[in-house]
Amino acid sequence: MSAGLDPRLLARAREVVADTTGFRDDAIAQEAVERVLRAELARGRVPTEVLSELQQLGSPLAYTLVRAVLVGETYFFRQPEHFRYITQEGIPAALRHGAMHLRGWSAGCATGEEAYSLAACLLACAPAGMPVEVVGTDLHEASLEAARRGTYGAWSRRESAPALHPVYELLNGRQVSILPEVRKVTRFAPANLLAPLPERFGQFDFILCRNVLTYFSPSARDAAIVHLARALAPGGLLFLGTVEVDRAPPGLTREGAPELQAFRKPRPEERPFAQLPVAPPVPAPRMTPAPRRLSAPTPVSPTPPSPPPSPARMHLQALERIEEGNVAGATAVLELLVKQAPDYLPGLLELALLRERAGARDAAFPLMRALRTRAGQLPPDALVDGPEALPARFYLASADAYLNLGALE
Ligand SMILES: C[S@@+](CC[C@H](N)C(=O)[O-])C[C@H]1O[C@@H](n2cnc3c(N)ncnc32)[C@H](O)[C@@H]1O
Repeated sequence: MSAGLDPRLLARAREVVADTTGFRDDAIAQEAVERVLRAELARGRVPTEVLSELQQLGSPLAYTLVRAVLVGETYFFRQPEHFRYITQEGIPAALRHGAMHLRGWSAGCATGEEAYSLAACLLACAPAGMPVEVVGTDLHEASLEAARRGTYGAWSRRESAPALHPVYELLNGRQVSILPEVRKVTRFAPANLLAPLPERFGQFDFILCRNVLTYFSPSARDAAIVHLARALAPGGLLFLGTVEVDRAPPGLTREGAPELQAFRKPRPEERPFAQLPVAPPVPAPRMTPAPRRLSAPTPVSPTPPSPPPSPARMHLQALERIEEGNVAGATAVLELLVKQAPDYLPGLLELALLRERAGARDAAFPLMRALRTRAGQLPPDALVDGPEALPARFYLASADAYLNLGALE
């Protein structure tokens, strides 16, 4: 019951939660929001004071609210079919393509059971001596602390999810502790799925993001999926929870049965654009005037001037450089692209994300603002050309999620 609570206060509190987490309004537990607000008022604060704190972006109260609504339910080897697919299909394919290491990301890891399950799975299947690394990220710091402790009770071990690989040992009658070798290859860090994962985390062969996006608004989910897809290594697999998306995320292809919700990032040679000829370099502008002809020119067969590379082609060149790890090269191509084709929305987004991942948020913001303005001028369903045709609303949602989030931090 919201009896006695100022409706403006409630509305603002819910708005802050939605902007920070990406949650849909109906996924924000009213009871949790009210509990936090009542506790503030019980401390003797007046509603206008609480409201004014909520107007300040990123205030302590905003984070208390966010913590109160996050749902951290998880357990070991949840959705075991994903771990089986990684073992039977994902790892053998990575090894066939010459993988030198296996890297996983548990995105929205809660208290860490998923990250440790993934680490145990990769360790069990990697050839001897092959480096394995798993990163677990979440918005909820207290959950991450529990993940780092790595001790769990019976609730984390469900009958419905078989212990597929060795992951913990008995600590005492009731608790288990993560095996040292699994712990060693797993680390945890705070991160919000509405922003790209910083570049220092690298790219991943396997990403699990399950039971997280289900709470998100459609636009926040689209934005988060872009960041997840970007963090996949070529050939890498993204696993989402059941019913979280009804089609393959942009740039990825579906793997296995539809209910598996597994999506693969094509390797460069599998991309539809890979067959296109490489565009010739843009001709340099002529600096000196051509000499005046004194006699009639000898007719020569005309050679058509080379067309400048299309924005999509330049974009693809930048993507290839990103995949080679040549971030400086990719940045140079994208800067040129944004200069030459400022209305090419995918270029604005790509350069903004590259800058964010490199920690240059100040440089990412103006690009995201330009993206929002330009995308907002198009009909939401208008298809925008790029390496993949996506509707304008997708670009608008990505820019909105990024700008809202940045404003709150
Ligand atoms: C229900 S748990 C799922 C845990 C695990 N992935 C699983 O399937 O067992 C959802 C987790 O997502 C996290 N989360 C929600 N919104 C997030 C966001 N915007 N960024 C990062 N983590 C988020 C929550 O804090 C929570 O720990």
